[in-house]
Amino acid sequence: MKNKRVLLGITGGIAAYKSAELVRLLVKAGAEVRVVMTEAAQQFISPLTFQALSGNPVHTTLLDPVAEAGMGHIELARWADVMLVAPATANTIAEMVAGRADQLLTTTFLATAAPVVIAPAMNQQMWANPATQNNMETLRGRGVLVLGPAEGEQACGDVGAGRMLEPAELVACLMAPYTGPSLSGVHALITAGPTQEAVDPVRYLSNHSSGKMGHSLCRALLAAGAEVTLVSGPTNLLPPHGANYVRVDSAREMLDAVMANVETAKLFVATAAVADYRVAEQAAHKIKKNNDEMSLALERNPDILAQVAAISDGPICVGFAAETQRLAEYAQGKLERKNLDMICANLVLGENSAFGSDDNALEVFFRDGNSQSLPRADKGSLASSVVSLIAQHYFS
Ligand code: C5P
Repeated sequence: MKNKRVLLGITGGIAAYKSAELVRLLVKAGAEVRVVMTEAAQQFISPLTFQALSGNPVHTTLLDPVAEAGMGHIELARWADVMLVAPATANTIAEMVAGRADQLLTTTFLATAAPVVIAPAMNQQMWANPATQNNMETLRGRGVLVLGPAEGEQACGDVGAGRMLEPAELVACLMAPYTGPSLSGVHALITAGPTQEAVDPVRYLSNHSSGKMGHSLCRALLAAGAEVTLVSGPTNLLPPHGANYVRVDSAREMLDAVMANVETAKLFVATAAVADYRVAEQAAHKIKKNNDEMSLALERNPDILAQVAAISDGPICVGFAAETQRLAEYAQGKLERKNLDMICANLVLGENSAFGSDDNALEVFFRDGNSQSLPRADKGSLASSVVSLIAQHYFS
């Protein structure tokens, strides 16, 4: 991180004590660090600590003529190569979502064009609250990179997700764009989410896929410098910032969107849970419940991944396999049958089901017979590991 300018925002959580170590590690990695603290952060740890560790004055107030004459909020926002908010409390996250500018840290966040990374830290119940989860989704959708939180024991005595990542982990993630995989110039095409197959104008057949894995992979590919087209079925997620986003409903629409974009693609990643069958004859009007029983005739949908993998000189093809049993056998069978380069397999049974969950574990199989396990982690970290494997194997 030699000469990289890191603007570190510190907010008022007990994890603020870890930010001292964070500054030390960033400086050790060669970064130039400037610190912005909220009022509440200063209740936990003194600005003097950060002044001593960063070698720069600490910025604490928005409307102080003396401080603004030194380096004002706009200058600070322009100065940064990257802005890291660690710890990021639930309150500051909510203020970032709302676009508030009543204190220095949030004003700098609004004013910076640099990439923003946040490391949330809070009580596990506050993290799990739908208000916080919605806020996280909004920030992710706006291109903010979210690191953590980790699970474990909390200062308040609870156990769960909400611990700030350790300083060394944060520094490693910040350094990734400089040391991590590069897919610069690669056009990557991804499918994500479920498909919906219409039965009549008001009903459809679908599945529980949330689209989270595909969206996380899209963000990881963007972070590695790829140009990404994301073809997504219906999900509750915001389109990742910077991706070319194509929204579809049915498998046949997904196939059309993929084929329209595949020509320039060097990489195809199929995470979508495409419905295997569609209703053979979609009713023009709402079907009435006139009988005690009814049956629907179904017909096979196209296999999008197999069709892309059959293109001669086509992209590197990576598939996903969700299985409820015999993971390795079924996944390797799919790899061969669909002529793939790589397949990421996961179990979707019981409480470890990946569907809808924020974390997952993957078993990766390659065409040459090699395999690798990626242990349970949040889908963002897992996506970065998958992208690293793709870059190492096919684009280095
Ligand atoms: O055969 P199965 O559905 O288990 O294969 C899973 C893989 O194939 C996933 O990568 C999925 O996105 C892809 N697929 C597809 N089109 C289908 C069915 C699956 O692209 N119709």
